[in-house]
Amino acid sequence: MDELRASIEGHIDTLSKFTATPGVGTTRLTYSKEDKQAREYIKNKMTEYRLQVSEDGFGNIFGKLNGTLKDAPSVLIGSHFDSVPNGGSFDGPAGVVAALEVAALFAQKQLKPKYPLEVIALIEEEGARFGGGLMGSRGITGLLSEKDFKNLKDKDGISTEEAMVNIGLDPSLPKKRDPKTIKAFLELHIEQGPVLEEKNIPIGVVEAIVGLTQFKVTVEGKAGHAGTTPMARRSDALVTAARMIAQFPTLAIEEGEGTVITTGQLNVFPNGANVIPNKTVFTVDIRSSKEEHIQNVVRQMTELIDLYSQDVIRISAEQCLYMKPKVMNQEIIAHLKESSRNLEIPYCSINSGAGHDAMVFSDFTDVGMVFIPSKDGLSHCPEEWSDAGDIAKAVQILYETTKKLTEAEEK
Ligand code: GLV
Ligand code: MN
Ligand code: MN
Repeated sequence: MDELRASIEGHIDTLSKFTATPGVGTTRLTYSKEDKQAREYIKNKMTEYRLQVSEDGFGNIFGKLNGTLKDAPSVLIGSHFDSVPNGGSFDGPAGVVAALEVAALFAQKQLKPKYPLEVIALIEEEGARFGGGLMGSRGITGLLSEKDFKNLKDKDGISTEEAMVNIGLDPSLPKKRDPKTIKAFLELHIEQGPVLEEKNIPIGVVEAIVGLTQFKVTVEGKAGHAGTTPMARRSDALVTAARMIAQFPTLAIEEGEGTVITTGQLNVFPNGANVIPNKTVFTVDIRSSKEEHIQNVVRQMTELIDLYSQDVIRISAEQCLYMKPKVMNQEIIAHLKESSRNLEIPYCSINSGAGHDAMVFSDFTDVGMVFIPSKDGLSHCPEEWSDAGDIAKAVQILYETTKKLTEAEEK
């Protein structure tokens, strides 16, 4: 257990160094220099753990241990390795590292699974570079079409494919995967909330994941001189955006039952101190465990857009992501709980307020998810921290569950 813990700590420490913002958290945008560094590390570890390494046309990474059954579908295990701007070292990598360590145990014990085991490290779950998020899993499952993928650009106008080529990836490799090649998907993630820490329980077996939607709202007005344009003659795109954004919290609060709404990104054009903004682009992220709440808030947001649209102010909203709330597979939940009991590791059931690749896979295959505690419930910030010892406990549970799902025998 000490060795496992040390190994996990080593991976997390190394991956955390691949950041564009050293000293102020992890910033690892998809297809960046830091993505390439993390990618090389993950691929090297996969090879060391006797997995066959490959990448797809999105840059998702796969490390496969073949099964003895011919053409059998794989049990996938993993998470994402991108980050939000100035995020932590655990959101995503904890799940990739846990999956690597499950594979390391398979190698150590020389397990021969019937069904292949595939460690998977996914791109752009956070959507921090190209928007929308869950891009690796949406790509693999075909929810994101090749055409839509190609059309995505980052804030500097660099397309997905250009960015891939810039770090030596090949966008012409196969993209969508036949769901028949997947038997199950397992993911470990940090909780990103306070529940497990408060209960002092190391493992949360996820029952359901909230539904979420994201919009990109564009407000267009008219640029002008900040000193000479009278207040009554302005079409200020930022003032209009600010008025709308200020009303969003009330929409979520009135909807209730834990419905939340966030504007986390705002770009102002042309962004000059003495220029009236002619355009603002901002994001709206709406989440709830009940789909009807999401739909109600979207309707009210659309009403606000209509209200603030005038001849001189044009407002449009583009929906970048829509995911219904998802429940996890009951059999896998039962396997995870049974494994925890057999290992005498305390666990409880939990729901996820964050979005995860697991929710994408759940429409295509049987999915199970495990959480570990987050210190002070913090995530998406440099202070994000989880105990490598808790990751090690999750690895043991996932190892037992993976062994069962791949029908592997210990010698
Ligand atoms: C990912 O962290 C999300 O919940 O958006
Ligand atoms: Mn995240
Ligand atoms: Mn995550």
